Amino acid sequence: MVRMTSLVEMRNITKKFPGVTALSGVNFDVKPGEVHILLGENGAGKSTLMKMLSGAYEPTEGVMVANGKEFPRFTPKISQDNGISIIYQELSVINEISIQENIFVGKLAEKSVLGLKVVDNKAMRKRTQEVLDEIGLKRSPETTVGSLSISEKQMVEIAKAVAFDAKVIIMDEPTSSLTTEEINHLFEIVNRLKKQGKGIVFISHKLDEVLAIGDRVTILKDGQYVGTYPISEMDEDRLVKLMVGREIKGTYLKDPDKEYKNEVIFEVNGLTRKDEYVKEISFKLKRGEILGFSGLVGAGRTELMEAIYGAAPIKAGTITLLGKTLHIKKPYDALKEGIALVTENRRETGFSPYFSIKQNLNQAKNLKESKFGGMTGLINNAEEERVSEEQRVAMQIKCATTNQVITQLSGGNQQKVILGRWMASNPKLIIFDEPTKGIDVGTKSEIYKLMRGLADKGIGVLVVSSELPELLSTCDRIIVFNDGRSNGEFLSTEATEEELVRAATTK
Ligand SMILES: Nc1ncnc2c1ncn2[C@@H]1O[C@H](COP(=O)(O)OP(=O)(O)OP(=O)(O)O)[C@@H](O)[C@H]1O
Ligand SMILES: [Mg+2]
Repeated sequence: MVRMTSLVEMRNITKKFPGVTALSGVNFDVKPGEVHILLGENGAGKSTLMKMLSGAYEPTEGVMVANGKEFPRFTPKISQDNGISIIYQELSVINEISIQENIFVGKLAEKSVLGLKVVDNKAMRKRTQEVLDEIGLKRSPETTVGSLSISEKQMVEIAKAVAFDAKVIIMDEPTSSLTTEEINHLFEIVNRLKKQGKGIVFISHKLDEVLAIGDRVTILKDGQYVGTYPISEMDEDRLVKLMVGREIKGTYLKDPDKEYKNEVIFEVNGLTRKDEYVKEISFKLKRGEILGFSGLVGAGRTELMEAIYGAAPIKAGTITLLGKTLHIKKPYDALKEGIALVTENRRETGFSPYFSIKQNLNQAKNLKESKFGGMTGLINNAEEERVSEEQRVAMQIKCATTNQVITQLSGGNQQKVILGRWMASNPKLIIFDEPTKGIDVGTKSEIYKLMRGLADKGIGVLVVSSELPELLSTCDRIIVFNDGRSNGEFLSTEATEEELVRAATTK
């Protein structure tokens, strides 16, 4: 076999931030026509390594190589000139402008008219349409990006890379917000790009995906380089062993020997949203039980949770928590009643990006304890410090100090801050919408344990998830949504993935 030269290479890279060594002695390269997986737990240094390829960060030590040429660092220009394109973990599209404008932002096409340079709108529109056709996004180039779903926004990011003929495309957790169908579509695109000789870097915590799409895998552990291996030599157990170094337990269902009072702690009866995105939903949650919600995206699961949380108006139905009928008009009312909602979109409705970890951890609790709709309330520094320390330890948040801005944390650690914020608000009912998005396998099992612990303490737990194994291993009962209505209810100990899929897709 001919040894193919790498498109890019990183040798012996070390990256230090104040108080943390994010990476030390890491090697990485990308060859034409391969999918190179980058794997490691939350905070292992994956995104940081990729930001040195895109030129966003400068290595503290090490050598960067592009097309055989060595550099102490890549500037964004060097990176762009060498055809490197990155799709960041937290998407970087601009909501206020169109798809076409997002693709060409900073790189407007020009033409010459009577010796003057003017923007060539026609060329940009044509190119945008070509790229959208190629990747299969059925939207017009003029569509405002803010009106797209998360997965469509992600397609726009891919369109940006494809439009400028990138040679190396880095995808940092591209599948964490996608449904199975969308993931299959993304894999088709990735395989097509691969056939065109592009090098793809693919970051994911989902090991089945890694095995399905990867050619080689590089594993990082706590910023250290573990090694690079052909995927053909790997299976899930070996990957877990290399990245985590311990075995992971299988299920977190209710202990069948444990006795609970046969008490309904939360009940929804005949709930219909004003916009009818959910219709006539009824269910009961018993003490000690975790209830899951399955179904396709848009089937009404998130929409139901929004209604319970007061984020969308209802036209009929009742909601009862611990025997009290609630009249929730807005999220503040829900918070006051002890309802917490961990949303699926952490960037847009999850955390406050300009706030510190500590402020984020105290936000829900402070608001809950405030008066007059959050207009008044005293800040107690010592109490904030106590709460944030408690949650930092409980959620194992990896940070230098809790005074850091939350956006400095790795993606998975940002998610832990959001979970910690809701824990600190002392909820009676907690709704998790895609709770382990971007969370590594080891931490996932910690979160499942935490959910089970909450249920054991008598706190109501509802879980919306697109990952069927997650629902089956953590929820005692699962309701499947189909077109805004419940289309079946299953006990986890009896249900199979096939049955859940069938209920989600056929009536
Ligand atoms: N700008 C920054 N300032 C300070 N520390 C940072 C900064 N960026 C990253 N870090 C730290 O570097 C370490 C590695 O973070 P990185 O985001 O690379 O992890 P990751 O492997 O991508 O994790 P995840 O799977 O959670 O996305 C973390 O401890 C993180 O807090
Ligand atoms: Mg990351």
